[in-house]
Amino acid sequence: MSFGLARGRTLETAGFGVESADLPAFDAKNRAAARVDPRAWFETPGRTFEIEIGSGKGTFLVQEAVQRPDVNYLGIEWAGEFYRYAADRVRRRELANVRVLHGDATEFIRYRCPDAIAAVIHVYFSDPWPKKRHHKRRVIQDQTLEDFHRVLVPGGEVRLVTDHPDLWAWYEAHAARCATRFTRRPFTAPGSANAGEFVGTNYERKFAREGRPFHAMVLAKR
Ligand SMILES: C[S@@+](CC[C@H](N)C(=O)[O-])C[C@H]1O[C@@H](n2cnc3c(N)ncnc32)[C@H](O)[C@@H]1O
Repeated sequence: MSFGLARGRTLETAGFGVESADLPAFDAKNRAAARVDPRAWFETPGRTFEIEIGSGKGTFLVQEAVQRPDVNYLGIEWAGEFYRYAADRVRRRELANVRVLHGDATEFIRYRCPDAIAAVIHVYFSDPWPKKRHHKRRVIQDQTLEDFHRVLVPGGEVRLVTDHPDLWAWYEAHAARCATRFTRRPFTAPGSANAGEFVGTNYERKFAREGRPFHAMVLAKR
């Protein structure tokens, strides 16, 4: 299925997009060999490093990366067309501090990322998977929060925003279960958000026009 995002243009990802298929082969018997440090994908790898899971069209990445050129951002998106659209958008803007990975963010963080590399993991308007039998597909799980805890630097944050009441209840239950690992804090909008916005992603702007209320929290690594 095509969403028609390219509108007849050729989307170019070279230099800004990374394909999971190009990562070292995963061998369950030698997990250390499969580890990759995504900070090395940037021209200035020593900067503060943040990850966005499910970056969609890349709106948060391009807005925020301009405001904070001293921070490197990795967007991870598993839908090919959205990945290509976001990576092309970043390339056209020549944002040296953004890369977009095409793949499953939870697998990448769990199996590929070294310990203590990310200052923030952003999860905005993640798919709610409303049917009970699909809940296992939600990004936030007890295991993913464990993995995020490992990959975050001390004091690092998971930032969550959703419009979906059932997914919000799911986040609250997961936050309560990991209270010894994370401190829950109120959400503060990033500098690139417009007045009244939580973050200013595409989904937030679409849902705001529909008048939906939003919910947000920050989980800070203890
Ligand atoms: C509802 S959209 C929100 C996009 C964007 N964050 C926004 O607010 O406009 C959720 C996005 O997350 C992506 N996604 C869901 N699970 C993912 C995963 N495990 N790894 C990478 N991308 C994922 C989907 O393909 C989709 O583009």
